[in-house]
Amino acid sequence: MNTSTPELRKETARLYEKLNKLGWGRDDCELIAPITSEIAQLKDEQNAVILAHSYQTPDIMYGVGDYVGDSYGLSRMATKHPAQKIIFCSVYFMGETAKLLNPDKEVLVPRVAGCSLADAITGKQVRALREKHPHAGIVCYVNTYAAVKAESDACCTSSNVVEVVEAMPQEEIVFIPDRLMGLNLRNMTSKTIITWDGTCVVHEGFNEDTIKDIRQRFPGVKILAHPECAPGVVALVDYAGGTSGMLNYVRESSAKTFMLVTECGLTDRFKAEFAGKEIVGTCILCPYMKQIQLEDVLKALKNPSPDQYIEIPEDVAARARASLEKMFEYEQIGKSKRNKKH
Ligand code: 13P
Ligand code: SF4
Repeated sequence: MNTSTPELRKETARLYEKLNKLGWGRDDCELIAPITSEIAQLKDEQNAVILAHSYQTPDIMYGVGDYVGDSYGLSRMATKHPAQKIIFCSVYFMGETAKLLNPDKEVLVPRVAGCSLADAITGKQVRALREKHPHAGIVCYVNTYAAVKAESDACCTSSNVVEVVEAMPQEEIVFIPDRLMGLNLRNMTSKTIITWDGTCVVHEGFNEDTIKDIRQRFPGVKILAHPECAPGVVALVDYAGGTSGMLNYVRESSAKTFMLVTECGLTDRFKAEFAGKEIVGTCILCPYMKQIQLEDVLKALKNPSPDQYIEIPEDVAARARASLEKMFEYEQIGKSKRNKKH
């Protein structure tokens, strides 16, 4: 490997400027510079864009990602971006959502990575739930595969779940697959919520004692949690919301100390993007998100294997897209219902 060319020295300096805040040394940056520059070159040649979820490792987010964000925001970004090829650095279901919203673009994932929530339910199981609860509406969380979205009445994200549920015509809602988020939902709506037994391996790992301990040790700390955490944890925090909601909260808060009750990638973003603010407590790594390596991103551009392309059978895609469209419609109805109440 030749690290002495002016191009590689320039790339090393670019990486170092971004990654040294996260503890990366110049040597670490020098080591990945050849691969990040090859990725950048191929990306430009192929008119591709690289999207990186906030739970990715710093070398992916800041080394090769053009945009870093949450699952929903990145998929929306893909629709606006002129690139015809999207490399979605994240778990498979997020790549599928991007493909559903961008059917005419090529969408690739660096690796076929699962998710304990998405893996918790199949389309067949949703059909069985519909038979068991014929009068209920079925709302699926965005952390599901296209085959599950296709069997649901509407999809939702962590930021619009209440609006979607409130706007559904039914009083009884089957909420899939996140049991903990479903339990949190029961505290936010008067509708009857039937839950499924899925959980996120990251967020189910946090407990109330840790939150109480951090609050005691760091007076004035603001604690933020993802609604995939248990209700007992959510009840103790200052803010509950998705990854983008948490970042906005930190951006707008005058507090100095924060605890992020979520995956470690968000902690990395926090350290890289908010100088002068302090983060305390621990985070938990997502074993699915962290499977993605720079080598996989390079392969998706240089020599993609068939499984890296997101392909969804058209009948499934049309019905899954309809459940996403219902989400956009119900989100607006739910918002105006709320505004009228206040
Ligand atoms: P966001 O929807 O906030 O991107 O979070 C995705 C996720 O996997 C949460 O665990
Ligand atoms: Fe799935 Fe949880 Fe990982 Fe998000 S953090 S991808 S919900 S396992």
